[in-house]
Amino acid sequence: MLTVLFLGDIVGEPGRQAVIERLPELREKYTLDFVVANGENAAAGRGITSKLTIDLLRAGISVVTSGDHIWDQKDIFGFLDLEPRLLRPLNYPKGAPGAGTIVLETAKGKVGVINVQARTFMQPILENPFQAIDAAVNEMRRETNCIIVDVHGETTSEKIAMGRFLDGRVSAVLGTHTHVQTADEQIFPGGTAFICDAGMCGPVHSILGRAIDPIVNRFQTNLPSAFPVAGGEARLRGALIGIDETSGRALRISRIDEPGSNESGTATESPGTISEPPSA
Ligand SMILES: [Fe+2]
Repeated sequence: MLTVLFLGDIVGEPGRQAVIERLPELREKYTLDFVVANGENAAAGRGITSKLTIDLLRAGISVVTSGDHIWDQKDIFGFLDLEPRLLRPLNYPKGAPGAGTIVLETAKGKVGVINVQARTFMQPILENPFQAIDAAVNEMRRETNCIIVDVHGETTSEKIAMGRFLDGRVSAVLGTHTHVQTADEQIFPGGTAFICDAGMCGPVHSILGRAIDPIVNRFQTNLPSAFPVAGGEARLRGALIGIDETSGRALRISRIDEPGSNESGTATESPGTISEPPSA
């Protein structure tokens, strides 16, 4: 059995620190073969840098996925073509830097990862994710049946539709972007594991990883404000998936909710002034 840990959106320094500190222990605890994590909020909640990507890969993450915040840090434009283990959403028009798919060798055979962005209530509105992923899955299945999909989107309906659309053709479809872990983990009839949102690796006492008071104040007053990443207790949330490495069928999926570092301290990172409440 191929055991994959999928970690939900890593938010800021508390999320990164929790992942880097806990991953070696989790690798032993769950006998992990492969780790995928969404890193698009790793840089103070907005995007990811080349350095932070390398830090996460060195910590034991096999592939870092992303979403609507992938372009927030300017050094990522050049870096995406240099580091194929950092994915941007598949459904950008041709010519965008980087790629939305990768296949890697493991001790238990090849494992593919696809990152796709949903469209409902998402910006920018990308190419049709269903058409884009249909072609990508067909191509990837010539190399491997073990395929992990990160569908980055706002609505439960679009993410469930993606899971059902791919049932029987990929091993797992994991939702990201909303930062709130859903309780709908299941294996669909065709053998595809699914959870609508894997949750967040980041500070617990927060609003989607950001400090509480500025966001409550923003909703009360409509005035622009900075929204720093929160401090304090962090948790690691995601899903553990067991896959038959020959057929690619999922054998199990369970939610993960692990303690992170308690030493993150108070809010230390400021993303600057932004005029809208942060989206995930
Ligand atoms: Fe996002």
